[in-house]
Amino acid sequence: MDKFVIQGGNRLVGRVKISGAKNGSLALMPATLLAPGTYHLKNTPNLRDVWTMSRLMNSLGAFCELNGNELFIDTTNITSFEAPYEHVKKMRASFYVLGPLVSRYGYAKVSMPGGCAWGPRPVDLHLKGLEKLGAEISLESGYVVAKAERLIGNRFHFDVSSVGATGNLLMAASLAKGTSLLTNAATEPEITALARFLVKMGAKIDGIGTPQLEIEGVDSLHPADEITIPDRIETATYLIAAAITGGKLELENTNPYHLTAVIAKLEEAGCDIDVNADKISIEMNGKPKPVDITATIYPGFPTDVQSQWTALMLAAEGTSKITDTIYPDRFKHVPELIRLGANVEVVDNSAIVQGGRKLSGATVMASDLRAGASLVLAALIAEGTTEVLRVYHIDRGYENFEQRLQSIGANIKRVKTDLV
Ligand code: UD1
Repeated sequence: MDKFVIQGGNRLVGRVKISGAKNGSLALMPATLLAPGTYHLKNTPNLRDVWTMSRLMNSLGAFCELNGNELFIDTTNITSFEAPYEHVKKMRASFYVLGPLVSRYGYAKVSMPGGCAWGPRPVDLHLKGLEKLGAEISLESGYVVAKAERLIGNRFHFDVSSVGATGNLLMAASLAKGTSLLTNAATEPEITALARFLVKMGAKIDGIGTPQLEIEGVDSLHPADEITIPDRIETATYLIAAAITGGKLELENTNPYHLTAVIAKLEEAGCDIDVNADKISIEMNGKPKPVDITATIYPGFPTDVQSQWTALMLAAEGTSKITDTIYPDRFKHVPELIRLGANVEVVDNSAIVQGGRKLSGATVMASDLRAGASLVLAALIAEGTTEVLRVYHIDRGYENFEQRLQSIGANIKRVKTDLV
């Protein structure tokens, strides 16, 4: 296993080219199951979650080859309709194959995502929605089995706005017979990008970018090529890296308009930010001001940036409150930040940060992808050496993380370790 060894105290200065969106690719890839043929997905991030999705697609009979950031997919010979536990347990987004498989092939058997109980959450909306489109759903030995002669268009209202369930139903409804109306649908940029890709493949979708999507099902779709949108969460992480170290960065190949909530909060914290078409420049002089955030659905502040914001607030003199309305218990990073000397208390779905305390290096453990990123950010300002264990979580979503951080002045290296 790998760990990061980070020496805090350096100011980050320079340029970073942002990768394609991990969550964008994870939606585009399963969509290729909807029409046999070859696809070329450019700007695909070369990272662990994409490798996991590629392996899953290959196990279905597709051929996925990632060459740098060019992903080639051939879905001509799909021979299996089953997503086994070994793939799904690694990545919840594997559940995305359910909609396309049942819609195109009339049958799908997909393992329930790891750690989730059958019941009202966390994939109930995916299943209720597919049932509304006429799929027969059953649970067999930890697997969801979905069957349908052909899905039939229908209306479906999402009780809770869900990125994954919207993606699954969009894909499924594209090949259904008749028209579907999805209301309170997710409007996250990765879903909008998926809808645009489906339209390129021949789908008929109205209301793209809004919470009301009307899909007129078609009999067949065809392959298309696509350029994956920039990763807004990676962008936000580097913006916060600049802000926390009092640095100056230029982020290229990104989309500032996908990040308006984060940019507004960074400005409130005292950062100077300039945006143009596909670039963001940020400069921070001195320490950030304490700023509260509430993570909510797009275009609000993203839950995937909540833990990084908590790290930033450790550097601010004063009290700030970080609230997560999407995942109320997403605070696994807090006990690890406390090991670095942070003063943070979790109350209900909020972290209350008393910032301005000196942080000192320690060995800490990444419990998930974004929690890991927040530990790296905190380590950048901690005195002495911090070791971040379980880097494989961070590798799921950050391409060349330590090389990019090194290139802008961070003292970080990847080291093999026996510690787990
Ligand atoms: C996606 C992102 C993830 C991000 C999250 C919220 C991908 C691959 N992952 O995850 O990085 O943190 O959106 O922006 O794109 N819910 C239900 N029932 C369901 C589905 C969801 O109650 O069937 C609830 C969840 O518990 C959560 C909320 O809906 O409270 C939003 O979750 P959702 O948008 O579905 O997250 P994911 O698609 O899993």
